[in-house]
Formats: sequence, C-alpha cells, structure tokens
Amino acid sequence: MSEKKKSFVLKEPHRGSIAWQCPSNIALVKYWGKKGNQLPVNPSLSMTLSNSFTEMRMEFRMQERPGNISLEYYFDDKRNPGFEVRIRSYLAGLSVDLPYLNHLHLTLNSRNTFPHSTGIASSASSMGALALCLSSLEQEMFGMHQDDFAFRSRASFLARLASGSASRSVYGGFVVWGHFPSLPGSSDEMAIPLPFQPENVFNGLKDSILVVSKQAKSVSSSAGHALMNGHSYAEARIRNASINLDGLLSALRQGDLEGFFTITEWEALNLHALMMTSSRAYLLIEPNTLRIVKALRSMRETEGLPVCFTLDAGPNVHLLYPAAEEVKVRDWIDSRLKEYCEDGTVIHDQCGKGPQRTE
Ligand code: DP6
Repeated sequence: MSEKKKSFVLKEPHRGSIAWQCPSNIALVKYWGKKGNQLPVNPSLSMTLSNSFTEMRMEFRMQERPGNISLEYYFDDKRNPGFEVRIRSYLAGLSVDLPYLNHLHLTLNSRNTFPHSTGIASSASSMGALALCLSSLEQEMFGMHQDDFAFRSRASFLARLASGSASRSVYGGFVVWGHFPSLPGSSDEMAIPLPFQPENVFNGLKDSILVVSKQAKSVSSSAGHALMNGHSYAEARIRNASINLDGLLSALRQGDLEGFFTITEWEALNLHALMMTSSRAYLLIEPNTLRIVKALRSMRETEGLPVCFTLDAGPNVHLLYPAAEEVKVRDWIDSRLKEYCEDGTVIHDQCGKGPQRTE
C-alpha cells in the first residue's frame, strides 16, 4: 500500500453498523490497462450515475479471538459465497497494512437498484460502497479522517484496490482518476472530482442505457486489462487517452457539446477496437449494438437531436444527452430503438450527486 502509512490507535472497542449508497459510473475516457498494484496505464474520466446504485450495510463487532478476516456477505438477503470469497481476499490483502481488519467480524448486506449484466458496472458501485463503509469504520474507530476531502480520498484509494473504476464512484458529477499533469491533485492512486463546474448544458446529463443483451460478458474486464500488456497499439492508446481527456475537459468547460460527443464516441469505439486487435482478439459488441450506433448517427444528421453514445466493456449502449432534450430523446428511443433491446429493456439514469451515507 503506497499511500502514507496510517497509524491505528483504537479509540475504544466497538460494535455498530454503517450503511452507504454508492452509485455506479460510466467512463467517457476509458481506463483500459493496468500497471503495478491496480494503477491505471492512462488517466480516465467518468460520470457518476444517480439511480443505479449499490446499498451496502456493514455490521461490525470485535472478534473474541482475532485471527484472519471474519466475514459474512449477503446479496439480496442471501448469503453469496462467490462474492464473499472475492471480498475476503480483498480484505485479506488490505489487512497487511490495516491489521484492525483481523480483529473484527464483519457482516455485509448488499443490494443493487439495477439488474445484472445490463451495462451498468456493479463492481464500481459495490466496491465503492464497501470502501466508503471501511472509511467510515476507520473514522468511527480511530477518528482518522480530518475532513470530507481526506475521507473521500481515502475511500477512493481503498475502492481502487478492489476495482479500478470504483475509485471514481465515491464522487458525484464528473470524476478523473489517474495522474494528468494539467490537473493539480490528480493521481494514479485515487480519483478526484472535476476541479471546475462544467457548463450548464452538462448539468444532470442524461444516460439512457439500451440493453442489447442481458448475457454475462464472455471476457471479463480483468482479462481485457491484461491483454493491454504488450498490445501492439498500447503506446498510441495511452497517448490518445490523454489527448481525449484534455479535449473532454475543454468541452466540459466551454459547453462544447459537439466536441464532447465526438471524443466520447471515439473513445467508445477505440475501446472495442483495442479488444478486437489484442493478441486474443475478441468481440463484445453485437449486431444490434451497431444498428443502434448507425440509427443514432443517421438521426443526428436528419433530425439533429443532440445525443451521443458510449459503450462499456459489453454490447449495451449508453445514450448521453442534455436534460433539456429528455422528452424528445425518450420518444425517439421508444419509437426507434427499443426493438434492438432485449425484452425492450431501457434503463434511464443521469449524472448524479454521488454517494450518500444512510446509517
Ligand atoms: C471498460 O474497473 O471493472 O469499464 O480494476 O479489474 O476491477 P478492475 O476493472 P474495472 O474496469 C473497467 C473498464 C471499463 C472502463 C472504465 O470504467 O473506465
């Protein structure tokens, strides 16, 4: 753990509970490729969602006989051994530097407001929620974080170690993760909120997710990140990510919707181009993904509605558009695009204010 070493002086033996709601996020400049201990090879920019969140409740008590990580994990009120193994191994990794974790018994109860495999990253919201619970736990047990900034940085740092994209979910609005020379305070170790207010046109930007397929993806993001090692286009990709981040920051500052659309779509297609050209070439988009992209581009030419798309590591399409256009865009989605979605599923979300502590 390379963050400044923390000292843990237990204020008093404790038991209690903490709960956080943490939204997912959608990347505009994609994090794609890692180095070292969960550090990104390029800086990324995301928008935190609002309705799509994980709600996690953590109960903690001192163990009678401290030893290893003691954990029970429930998802939708049912014990979930698969996630439990993943979270236990994450906590065990943290416990090397955070020995207090071996003194506690933790019970986690988690649920998502959105369905699985719909193009909304549940690892970002769930690991974000867990990291926020851990940071609150440290606050309660040791009084560790001096202010909200220190608290959020810590949560982002802990979230990153669980899942890179989760580091961005601890803030609302637009968020940058990864060192970027022109953004003071930006870091590979934790995300930061955008240090300026984007132009009004981006306030409450809408994200309608067109669920082309509900199937779990055939290649995990972890495997995708690994395929960036030695990728023949890696160097160009890393350079382009910084150019695109710079361009998107200017677009957000200046209210340049067209510039924002051009770069966002370029990033989405580039992510999938990298998948298709890796040593183990693979495809995650589906024919209906392309049908939607083509319908969108032709609608923009003929009707001029301001909408763009982005893609995550899967076939489902995120449509981004200004809040003022909501009625028109939703009509267009209903009449022209729903037919490309599995069971007509569309999830409507928007840029949100970030996580909330509920207990
Ligand atoms: C394509 O954060 O899921 O969604 O760090 O291995 O958990 P891990 O990967 P993850 O990767 C997300 C990749 C992406 C782009 C992004 O969210 O920036």
